[in-house]
Amino acid sequence: MFDVYKIREDFPILDRKVNNTDLVYFDNAATSQTPIQVIDTISNYYKKFNSNIHRGLHSLSADATSQYEESRTKVRKHFGVSENHEIIFTSGTTHGINIVSSGLQSILTKDDEIIISAMEHHSNIVPWQMLCEKTGATMKVIPINNDGTLDIDEYKSMLNPKVKFVFVNHVSNTLGTINPIELIIELAHKNNSQVLIDGAQGAAHLKINLKELNVDYYVASAHKLCGPTGVGFLYGKTELLKSLPAYQGGGEMISNVTFEKTEYADLPHKFEAGTPNIAGVIAFGVALDYMNSIGFDNIENHEKELLDYATDNLKKISGIKIYGDNKQKISVISFNIGDHHPSDIGSILDQFGIAVRTGQHCTQPIMDFYKIPGTVRASFSFYNTKSEIDLFIDALIKASKMLG
Ligand code: ALA
Repeated sequence: MFDVYKIREDFPILDRKVNNTDLVYFDNAATSQTPIQVIDTISNYYKKFNSNIHRGLHSLSADATSQYEESRTKVRKHFGVSENHEIIFTSGTTHGINIVSSGLQSILTKDDEIIISAMEHHSNIVPWQMLCEKTGATMKVIPINNDGTLDIDEYKSMLNPKVKFVFVNHVSNTLGTINPIELIIELAHKNNSQVLIDGAQGAAHLKINLKELNVDYYVASAHKLCGPTGVGFLYGKTELLKSLPAYQGGGEMISNVTFEKTEYADLPHKFEAGTPNIAGVIAFGVALDYMNSIGFDNIENHEKELLDYATDNLKKISGIKIYGDNKQKISVISFNIGDHHPSDIGSILDQFGIAVRTGQHCTQPIMDFYKIPGTVRASFSFYNTKSEIDLFIDALIKASKMLG
């Protein structure tokens, strides 16, 4: 039984006041809040288990290692992956993308093409631009339609034998659009192209089975899934990860080191050089347990209700324009009201204790497409309520009047 008020009791931060009023946290696309179960895991780790993993024979190290590896199993199972070694722990989505882009430097050539989309986060644009600068490969961009969806016909026409890779987000952090990644992957594979999906937003809202998706690489961050910041994962198919050159050199990622030659460790350690965020990885596993105890069906249903309720009420505000108002989207709404600058609206909302993100959301090409300086973005999570949306709508009406 889904009880949003009971769930809220797990999130201590939701009790705090901001500017003398109750916090309304609608910046979940930037980072989700952290339940007490995850906070306690981090604190307990440092109280009882703190030690390095895979390196010591002593009991503390053995305990830390087994909890760290148990977390890998949890991530593997949650995302429907068959092999633990296909899950590489990273510092987040950006790190995962950079592991792949750096590895492809010695694989891509000047005759190759790669495809990204016009609705990518900068972290899924810049590493591929850098890759093209280094290799001479050409980057092509799938355009977006006015309703915030991808132009799939254009994507089809861009595929040709030169295209070696496609890099697309699962869900747009700015528009909330859920992209048809099944179709994108299927078409890419028919073209013998590999696909990396940026799952930073998708993984937080949708239950995903990576094996069924048959994607080549998938990256996501723990902090959008009720976990800590500084942790994420890269999934890759075994044969691809094996052939991808190592990203960072260091301890833990080697099997034999002499001054003449170093042999790399097997997967996943080949990509996990140095001491990782051990407490964070363990807490990521607990965050997934937590979200699964609520149930992704419940999460999706509740967030859809919030999205529909907020969209209907926002549309009643005079002068509002919502970007990406399409049917296939998660609970993210980007909008502007009249000519008011998004940051002015954001600042007034903050006075009412309401946290939203304003600006370009690390997606300048989307802003260029709509010819706007930025948007106000409200993003809801499963612990938000319709009463909070009422407060948000009231505050927006007041903000609009104040700005004249
Ligand atoms: N990518 C995060 C956002 O959209 C930080 O806010």
